[in-house]
Amino acid sequence: MTAGRALGPFGDDTHDVRVAPDVVLSQKYPFVLPPLGYAFQAAEPAVDAATLRAHHERVHAAHVASLNAALAAHPSLHPLTLGELLMGLRKWPAAVRPVIRLDGSAHANHALYWKLLAPGAPSVAVPGGKLAEMIRRDFADREALQAAIVDAAAAHAGTGWVWLVKTATSRLAIRTLPEEDSPLLEGELPIVGIDLWEHAYAPRPLARRRDYVLAVLARLNWDVAGAQVE
Ligand SMILES: [Fe+2]
Repeated sequence: MTAGRALGPFGDDTHDVRVAPDVVLSQKYPFVLPPLGYAFQAAEPAVDAATLRAHHERVHAAHVASLNAALAAHPSLHPLTLGELLMGLRKWPAAVRPVIRLDGSAHANHALYWKLLAPGAPSVAVPGGKLAEMIRRDFADREALQAAIVDAAAAHAGTGWVWLVKTATSRLAIRTLPEEDSPLLEGELPIVGIDLWEHAYAPRPLARRRDYVLAVLARLNWDVAGAQVE
């Protein structure tokens, strides 16, 4: 830590990004599964209703339960928000770090993903505001951005997520991260996250990952994405 330098929002000057207002990132132990907020069939045809229901009620819920079970034995971590737990991972007891990394990331990731799939007014079909400016600056246009996201998702081996993030230098970048790793673990702000685990698009065969990502992008709620950088 540099003397005289102001601490970041999490008391850790190694991270410059600011966590956007996000209800789940502000949650503290015990963590709670957020309601989907819309009908399970509302994300069709990108994600079918049965897949969305199992993903929310079984997969996401299991991560929340596992996170709570592990943190029960660490009361010193209970005052911390989920955002703080992820951004400061290296500071927590070694025994609980793997659970925060896996289940804490999964909790944050899925909560954002549900919001990105949420139906909205026709105006949410295109990026606006600050995010639109950043896309023009860093990718030329939305079509180029979406093509790059699809290519990255298709090239990613195994489980994980494809991300559009805001880097520590406030640039947009596409990442693919393994398993449930949140970009917040590396101090990058998630803007768009698309789950690449097979459970996200089963029963479609794995070879259809590109089609699934295209379909999610075609219905993405850009208001939710834009709110991450405002
Ligand atoms: Fe998932």
